[in-house]
Amino acid sequence: MEDAPQEGEAPVTTTAPHANAAEIVASLPLETRYPAFPLRQYAGFWLAETTVKAAVPLLHARLQPRPDDVLIASFPKSGTTWLIALAFAALNRSEHSPLAGDHPLRHCNPHDCVRFLDTELAFAKNTADMDTLMDELEALPSPRLLATHLPHSLLPERVMDESFGCRIVYICRDPKDALVSLWHFTKKAAPAAVVDAQSFTFQEMFELFCEGRCPNGPQWHHVLQYWQESVRRPDKVMFLRYEEMLREPERNLKKLAKFMGCEFSDEEEEAGVVRAIVELCSLEKMKNMEVNRSGSTKLGVKSESYFRKGVVGDWSRHMTPEMAQKLDKIVRDAVDGSGFTFASLA
Ligand code: A3P
Repeated sequence: MEDAPQEGEAPVTTTAPHANAAEIVASLPLETRYPAFPLRQYAGFWLAETTVKAAVPLLHARLQPRPDDVLIASFPKSGTTWLIALAFAALNRSEHSPLAGDHPLRHCNPHDCVRFLDTELAFAKNTADMDTLMDELEALPSPRLLATHLPHSLLPERVMDESFGCRIVYICRDPKDALVSLWHFTKKAAPAAVVDAQSFTFQEMFELFCEGRCPNGPQWHHVLQYWQESVRRPDKVMFLRYEEMLREPERNLKKLAKFMGCEFSDEEEEAGVVRAIVELCSLEKMKNMEVNRSGSTKLGVKSESYFRKGVVGDWSRHMTPEMAQKLDKIVRDAVDGSGFTFASLA
């Protein structure tokens, strides 16, 4: 039986693909070597078991996208926090001047300025909490800023609907740097009781990553899917690269604002608004804010674990040339013929 759609809403069907993911989770291939949580292989990707159990089915059954939503999408450790901060500051600049001392980003971690769809649902303790979360999403005023680490092929189809679907901004990062960042984050963010920082070695992380057996992996398939969608629907899916954003933050912020429908005016540019947002969201500024130096996000992740070095090429301090060559080959073989290249493989 299908729910009748409200006027202006895309129909939600109870027979949507993936809506029954929870029922088959126990039968899916299991990976327990990733120390923070168990992973299950589902529809070609390794996802947190709780993502398959809770986030995927609920989002497929209930997420009602709006055309003016902005959905930030990424593979973990690709610059998501930075992109969220930039998008939030740009979208809300008329209400919150980036120069204001009480700007929300000065007293909230960027992750507490968006609703992180799959992660919040995966962290929910019970079905009542999940229901509350879905109700809260529905009640949010437009335009909503949402985020996800789900692969493109696991987003509810309604997100891509020509009339109801929303805009997606994807951030991609070189796989070797994403891997290094993930290793540090895994050790730093999780409670010591879950991840023994000493015993989870880089070699172990490297092997898991190369096999695609890490949260939302394989990383290169995640990237490729969004890139292909951005080529197919450039008006709805924007593809950004972390490395290019580091090189030209102002130019990329202007592109982002235009895509989100809140282009900067000449007057704003002359008044230094673009520069002020880039500065407010810079790694140095964010890392040194009191709110990001101590405490945890609403989901209980240590705030400081989102901010580390923020550079290109840190992988060379962790990998031998042989390791780098091995991963490069895996990635090159996987994306071969697609037309896509990672900057460091080009
Ligand atoms: P490193 O671990 O290489 O330093 P995510 O936000 O997707 O979890 O990605 C985290 C990575 O982005 C980390 O990379 C982190 O240092 C970097 N990062 C976080 N905030 C940033 C910012 N404001 N500017 C640039 N990079 C940032």
